[in-house]
Amino acid sequence: MLPFQCCRRRHKSSDMAYLTTLISILLLFPSTTSQTLQNHSFDTFNSTSFNFLDVIPSASINGGALQVTPDSAGSEMVVTLNNNSGRIFFKTPFKLWDDSSSSQKLASFNTSFLINIFRVNNGTPGEGLAFIIAPSLTIPLNSSGGYLGLTNSTTDGNVTNRFIAVELDTVKQDFDINNNHIGLNINSVRSNLSVPLDFELAPNGTKFYVLWIEYDGDRRHIDVYMAEQPSRELPIVKKPVKPVLNSSLDLKEWVNRESYFGFSASTGNTVELNCILKWNISIEAFGEKGKSGKALAIGLGVGIPLFLILISAGLYYYYLIKKKKEEDNYGSNSQIMGTLKSLPGTPREFNYQELKKATNNFDEKFKLGEGGYGVVYRGILPKEKLEVAVKKFSRDKMKSTDDFLAELTIINRLRHKHLVKLQG
Ligand SMILES: *[C@@H]1O[C@H](CO)[C@@H](O)[C@H](O)[C@H]1NC(C)=O
Ligand SMILES: *[C@@H]1O[C@H](CO)[C@@H](O)[C@H](O)[C@H]1NC(C)=O
Ligand SMILES: *[C@@H]1O[C@H](CO)[C@@H](O)[C@H](O)[C@H]1NC(C)=O
Ligand SMILES: *[C@@H]1O[C@H](CO)[C@@H](O)[C@H](O)[C@H]1NC(C)=O
Ligand SMILES: *[C@@H]1O[C@H](CO)[C@@H](O)[C@H](O)[C@H]1NC(C)=O
Repeated sequence: MLPFQCCRRRHKSSDMAYLTTLISILLLFPSTTSQTLQNHSFDTFNSTSFNFLDVIPSASINGGALQVTPDSAGSEMVVTLNNNSGRIFFKTPFKLWDDSSSSQKLASFNTSFLINIFRVNNGTPGEGLAFIIAPSLTIPLNSSGGYLGLTNSTTDGNVTNRFIAVELDTVKQDFDINNNHIGLNINSVRSNLSVPLDFELAPNGTKFYVLWIEYDGDRRHIDVYMAEQPSRELPIVKKPVKPVLNSSLDLKEWVNRESYFGFSASTGNTVELNCILKWNISIEAFGEKGKSGKALAIGLGVGIPLFLILISAGLYYYYLIKKKKEEDNYGSNSQIMGTLKSLPGTPREFNYQELKKATNNFDEKFKLGEGGYGVVYRGILPKEKLEVAVKKFSRDKMKSTDDFLAELTIINRLRHKHLVKLQG
């Protein structure tokens, strides 16, 4: 039975008459992860792209494309097209998993991009282009040639590199399968997995290809698809059914929680242009404070319990405390506090002012929904910077303190991944 029932007989209905307003608070902490999608789409690249992208020399933006290695020689910066490396990243990192250690959830993402690896003067191409997930907006020194801008002779293979890459390699090193392959690389230019391609990455003339890289954070699996695209202007072709490369991959093991997405490339004794012409990213975002609240409101609004459902807690505030009834009030209060203390996890006590502030004075705009005994508001505890749900019990609907305590006790017992915890 509920632990407070032992006290029930002490509670006379007359006591309740003095509780002009009984407010209790439900605190909802988004303890589970909440996903919304973050989307970015580049149909072309120009000077405004610098607002979103970090371009690390010898990379540049030119001709409506990301030139991950130089597309023209002769300037002071680039004396020759040979032996260059460069990287271009999306400026802000993506969070790949939640910081709450309880959650095993990894972000899923899809990225697709249109590329042109161009063989200069019908010469021999070199060296390659890669999609990379990296820990910082930097490039290793001396990462030209076979290092693809990914590593150098000192750092190659070091687990502290914290990157994974999907490489398109046009030069055969002694450890490579051939001079026209796709590979999955972890911390090294030596691919963990390589697949020879049955079409030429850098043929004579100009060919465009689309790559789709899909990472499933639940299955911890990566699929890479590739298809030829007839021209730069035509709509992007359909993704093939069969991936060209696929592998299980636990990103949590290899990269940082906050990682940068982008491209890396190099040239060596032989050169190619490594161009990205279009780029889309769609990635699951973990609820930032505020963002998840919005999603919660939407979720409840459309009647879909997206990630959180209620929870609760109690705190009592007597709107009008009549001095002479202090004793009675004290009786109810101590009953509630007694119950709170007896609950597993010992929910803490919040004062009314704190919650009033957290909900902007129970602002209508913060209203998430209405339950049996009252209204639920979204709130932010300023001190803790925590997003919570606050339930304001209404006296009309609740017949007694017991009803409240019963709800409190039940909510505190609920444990479910879509339910957030009772905080106090
Ligand atoms: C990625 O694409 C697949 C379909 O190919 C889709 O099922 C999945 O929801 C997408 N994931 C993201 C994060 O956009
Ligand atoms: C990016 O997404 C838009 C909108 O869905 C689509 O039209 C376009 O073809 C995509 N581009 C690439 C490179 O996948
Ligand atoms: C890997 O890199 C770290 C940090 O740069 C360095 O301390 C360590 O010695 C390197 N390990 C090897 C085997 O080179
Ligand atoms: C991939 O290669 C890295 C670096 O050589 C190595 O640490 C790792 O164990 C390899 N992983 C797999 C799955 O082969
Ligand atoms: C590429 O084209 C040039 C002439 O433009 C030709 O000399 C060369 O043999 C061709 N190379 C290949 C691999 O087809």
